Amino acid sequence: MKLTIIGTGYVGLVTGACFAEVGHSVICVDNDAAKVKLLQSGGIPIYEPGLEELVHKNVSAGRLRFTVSTAEGVEQSDVIFIAVPTPPQPDGSVDLSFIEKVAREIAGAMTSYKIVVDKSTVPVKTGDKVAETIKRYCKAQVDFDVVSNPEFLREGFAVEDLMKPDRIVVGVRSQRPVAAMKEIYTPFNAPIIVTDINSAELIKHASNSFLALKISYINAVSVLCEAAGANVQDVANGMGMDDRIGRRFLNPSLGFGGSCFPKDLSAFIKIAEQIGYDFRLLKEVQRINTEQMERFIKKISDTLWVLKDKRIGVLGLAFKQNTDDVRMSPAIDLCHRLQKDGAILRVHDPKAMEKAKALLQDVTYVENMNEVAEGCDALVVATEWDEFKKLDLERARKALSHPIMFDGRNLFDPQEMERLGWIYKSIGR
Ligand code: UGA
Repeated sequence: MKLTIIGTGYVGLVTGACFAEVGHSVICVDNDAAKVKLLQSGGIPIYEPGLEELVHKNVSAGRLRFTVSTAEGVEQSDVIFIAVPTPPQPDGSVDLSFIEKVAREIAGAMTSYKIVVDKSTVPVKTGDKVAETIKRYCKAQVDFDVVSNPEFLREGFAVEDLMKPDRIVVGVRSQRPVAAMKEIYTPFNAPIIVTDINSAELIKHASNSFLALKISYINAVSVLCEAAGANVQDVANGMGMDDRIGRRFLNPSLGFGGSCFPKDLSAFIKIAEQIGYDFRLLKEVQRINTEQMERFIKKISDTLWVLKDKRIGVLGLAFKQNTDDVRMSPAIDLCHRLQKDGAILRVHDPKAMEKAKALLQDVTYVENMNEVAEGCDALVVATEWDEFKKLDLERARKALSHPIMFDGRNLFDPQEMERLGWIYKSIGR
């Protein structure tokens, strides 16, 4: 099918590449001319495993191209996907101005029936607004359908999640666009659930909030484990073997971050409030998340006492592994907090150092993870990168003034660390 994706961020670019990979003809539109130029010349603006190869392959095959012109995208495709940012506002609600602007642009360019699909994460009832807007601004007075088709990809695993989805959610107001949506997604071999638009929009917010809740739940349990002398890893394993619960997203941490969970939780709480429900359960999820970071910092200052002029090595800056994304990263937040207390930082991340530089200054960026500990008083693990498990522990131990490690991601085994002579503090163990 001929498809257009408006917005070449994480969701738009990966979706475009994966649609092309299964044989659709895809136009990716972005109003950022520099980004489009970069993509046209073979550059990829984000780090996402497997994406570069996929984009190059499909551009060469003539199934994927990039343009700044929304009108061109609308004219040449049957189905237009909106995948633009929906950033948070100071009160927790979502800024829908990009969605509104794109809806107007699509409306202005439509000369025949189109299916307009919202893929951006939006609060319930946004689909109605998009439909109203298109109707108002469509001079040609042609038919159209609005569809809600939320995305469930995780950064760092985006290509994998998109190519092998658990489910495809399609929210519609009439049956007319269903066949086309099924045709688009048939090659992905996933169950397709067709609902009304409001339900589809709610599925996205309810899913992300539930996953955040699951993380806050295990983080709260980790506090109990520390107080009771239990091991949260064993507790999570034991709970996770019940397949009604499941082991995934039960990894305790210094808190969840990123551009999705914190924003979507706030937005879900806000939209609930606007339609008359006080979602206190989710407010508690937020509170536990904030407290988890406080506890971790307290653990550091309880051990190192005064942080002023202490040298601390930090492993990890991205909000999680396999990405260079540092938006709302707990690791960056932690660095800022340690700096505020006067600590001097040496930091490393396998992929996120360039992007971190805009947010985190007055630190030493270290290219080799094994050199981070040099001259430091302690080492902190802030992101769950797999390669940190291969850290040269003996070298780090010798490089530190005292072999102290604070592990915010439980990457190492406490007994083994103790045997190797470390003072090792992790989460809930
Ligand atoms: C999340 C969802 O997992 C996706 O399904 C969704 O499509 C996406 O948001 C979105 O709305 O676009 P993402 O933000 O990429 O994906 O990352 P996650 O893997 O969900 O991790 C989020 C945060 O939770 C990270 O800071 C991670 O380190 C933390 N986390 C995750 C934990 O602390 N413990 C866990 O067990 C799992």
